[in-house]
Amino acid sequence: MSQLFTPITLRNFTLDNRIVVPLLCQYSSDDGIALDWHAQHLPALAISGAGLVVVEMTNVEPIGRITPWCARLWNDATRWVARAGFDSCGMHGAHGYLLSSFFSPLSNQRENESSGSIENRMRFPVEVFRAMREAWPVDKPLGVRLSCVDWVDGIP
Ligand SMILES: Cc1cc2nc3c(=O)[nH]c(=O)nc-3n(C[C@H](O)[C@H](O)[C@H](O)COP(=O)(O)O)c2cc1C
Repeated sequence: MSQLFTPITLRNFTLDNRIVVPLLCQYSSDDGIALDWHAQHLPALAISGAGLVVVEMTNVEPIGRITPWCARLWNDATRWVARAGFDSCGMHGAHGYLLSSFFSPLSNQRENESSGSIENRMRFPVEVFRAMREAWPVDKPLGVRLSCVDWVDGIP
């Protein structure tokens, strides 16, 4: 029997199965605010049977958006999400975004305590994660999305 269809508990949150709908940008917000599109798109995914549906990448500052139509939560954001009733929250550490650029030896060309060894490259992302963990309810899981491979010869 595959583990895929068995429940998994993360802190106080139990998923019915291990199928996850990943974050999918919709480019359909109005200055970052979710609209009618989201009100039908997300429930449609929620009734699909997947154990977890992740909301699209949500930006914590204006300059971090891919487009003006991307979702946003800023000004006391990481807490607004908890008040809105979300079961979990994630830190985006993948796809070349800011934190990903610290992890990768390819893009992290700094010459300071945040570069070089994996421990040093993880320093700032871990600091951000700890700040998120402090702001996020202790009974709710907090995840992180990672790009684990740079797909360049010689780079681990
Ligand atoms: C339309 C579309 C939008 C996406 N938007 C995001 C996004 O907002 N943030 C993100 O990290 N990944 C995004 N992705 C990547 C997906 O989360 C996922 O990693 C990718 O589709 C690979 O999964 P798959 O092999 O199951 O398709 C997007 C992918 C698609 C097709």
